[in-house]
Amino acid sequence: MTTVPARHDHRIVVITDHGSDEGSSAVLEAAVKQLTGAAALPLDARRFMTGGADRAEVRDGRLALHLAEDGRTLTPDAVIVYEIPPGDRHRFEDFQRVLGRSDTARLGAADSAAWRNATDKSRTVERFARHGVPHAPTITLDAPDREAALDAFSRLGGDVWTRPATGLGGDGVFHATTTAQLLAARDHYAATGRKWQLSRDARNFDARGRRHQLRVVVLGERVLRVCEHVQEALDEPCNEARGARSTVLPPEELPQRLADLAVAATRALGLSFGGVDLAVADGGCVFEVNVHPVISGPGALEGVALPLVQAHLTGPSAP
Ligand SMILES: Nc1ncnc2c1ncn2[C@@H]1O[C@H](COP(=O)(O)OP(=O)(O)O)[C@@H](O)[C@H]1O
Ligand SMILES: [Mg+2]
Repeated sequence: MTTVPARHDHRIVVITDHGSDEGSSAVLEAAVKQLTGAAALPLDARRFMTGGADRAEVRDGRLALHLAEDGRTLTPDAVIVYEIPPGDRHRFEDFQRVLGRSDTARLGAADSAAWRNATDKSRTVERFARHGVPHAPTITLDAPDREAALDAFSRLGGDVWTRPATGLGGDGVFHATTTAQLLAARDHYAATGRKWQLSRDARNFDARGRRHQLRVVVLGERVLRVCEHVQEALDEPCNEARGARSTVLPPEELPQRLADLAVAATRALGLSFGGVDLAVADGGCVFEVNVHPVISGPGALEGVALPLVQAHLTGPSAP
């Protein structure tokens, strides 16, 4: 016989996409257990997305979650939202609106505008430009004809990286230095129906000539974690999923100017937490800020998950 745990065992819910296997949710759940002594209740974010079976409402100022499967209603003390794939975030906005009307602790999880700033890279570069965050000169295109694509290519100097305006893990990211490569990239985005960007090559090489960048995870003004990413394949993006090697660095070794840059990039998008991809040369160049950087690897529980969960428990709930 299964017993339904008492509600006080589930003061904290961890809402992630259960179709994702990246593993951040397990680390967050371990952090909740360590900090509170009680298990978090994992819930599938897809069930709260537009068209999903579960429902959220505000009751007496608190978020109330109605679970269709067993008819339960939960009123958690804190909601941790993570591992929501970029392409699905727009379907999570109704839930965020409800969450935002409640006074339930959630750090920045209700701030759909900030999420959009980070998820749609055309918004990202606009915000970076407005807030003086250094980034590669970028042009965004939506279903351009050949001439428009080639014109953008030559305006950026004929050595560019192309990326989908909403993407993940270096998927659909290409280095183009010839018109044939640029037109092949254009075909790729046309086939997938995606808005895309060209940005001038950041020349992010290390002393040995390899592609090099940092992933800096920021919480408010604090740098929680720094990983160095090195890519031997010079035309491949510096993503682990594309063969880059990742090494954890002590956060205190990050030069202050790069810590300040990572914090400024996160703040420019309105995020209270994020994983910043940046190149270090020439004062720094920010590629993007990830709303939910993968939490994995040595020290990730202590370095990222514990302070992030702690901030949910002690920080202000807004927005
Ligand atoms: N202008 C550029 N110069 C050099 N490398 C780039 C440039 N734009 C993108 N890249 C590489 O492609 C990677 C993927 O782009 P990014 O914006 O981080 O998207 P995602 O990681 O979501 O796919 C970057 O982290 C970087 O390694
Ligand atoms: Mg990235």
